[in-house]
Amino acid sequence: MLYFYGLGVGLESIARGRFSRETLKNVVVPENYWRSLENRLTYRELNASSSDTVLDLGSPKLLSLYLADRVKAEVFSTDIEGYFLRDYTAFGRQKGVPESRFHVLEADGRKLPFPDNHFTRAYSISVLEHIPGTGDTECAREIGRTLKSGGICVITVPFSPESSEEYRKPSAFYWSGKSVKEPAPKSANVSANVSGGKSKNSDEPPRVFYQRRYSESDLHDRIIVPSGLRLKKAEFMGDRVARMNGKEIAYYLPRLAGPLHPILSRMFHATPSESWKDMKNPLGALLVLEKP
Ligand SMILES: C[S@@+](CC[C@H](N)C(=O)[O-])C[C@H]1O[C@@H](n2cnc3c(N)ncnc32)[C@H](O)[C@@H]1O
Repeated sequence: MLYFYGLGVGLESIARGRFSRETLKNVVVPENYWRSLENRLTYRELNASSSDTVLDLGSPKLLSLYLADRVKAEVFSTDIEGYFLRDYTAFGRQKGVPESRFHVLEADGRKLPFPDNHFTRAYSISVLEHIPGTGDTECAREIGRTLKSGGICVITVPFSPESSEEYRKPSAFYWSGKSVKEPAPKSANVSANVSGGKSKNSDEPPRVFYQRRYSESDLHDRIIVPSGLRLKKAEFMGDRVARMNGKEIAYYLPRLAGPLHPILSRMFHATPSESWKDMKNPLGALLVLEKP
């Protein structure tokens, strides 16, 4: 669904003479291997309608535009980086979505600029794991604060039976400037659970926090409990097949394999399960939370 919607948005944009990174991305890979699954499950669990006010925390991508355009919900698409503002504002106009229904803005999920009890739906796809320190927990609290009673929130993060953290060069991901300030701790180099703490070459800038993988207890302690929300459902996502050379399938997919991503997702993603222990290769978690 989103794949063809994104392709349409990209092609229409080009036909109007707008060429940008986001436009081309929509044409080449509107949804990658992981987002094909995460977007589908998030959309299903949100079950949003035109009477909903929806928060997308972290990088407005196609789903937020789709919800404003096709579902006709009021959507607030937010990210700590403003790289998307021009493109998504233009996509909204291109689709004829009134600005009063599609708000695109820069906001730090750790301190959301919205009043208490504002949203009936909220979601955050693959964002919390990228926020260093206790930033993920601060975001969970903010979602809990801004959600109305009875409101539903969907969060996806990477999962692993054991917690782990990954550090990368700041130039390796576009939000490192605003979201991540501290270099990797020295201990990052020696801990078995932390990869890539120190650059191989001493002239390179120190690596910074890139992401964590959540264990089951991390999900509870870092997200569910601090959010103040009730856990409605936890589902685990993963590949049907075991890792090859320690790498998951997504690692082997070239970005240009655009149209193949959703097909490969259908072929190689395992059916989501409420128990990660039943899965061959559990890699992600989806939490559905409700405000009492
Ligand atoms: C892997 S991308 C997210 C993906 C996006 N939700 C999607 O569906 O493709 C992670 C995003 O989180 C954003 N981010 C990082 N720290 C953040 C923060 N403190 N508040 C809001 N967004 C943040 C980054 O700028 C980046 O766009």
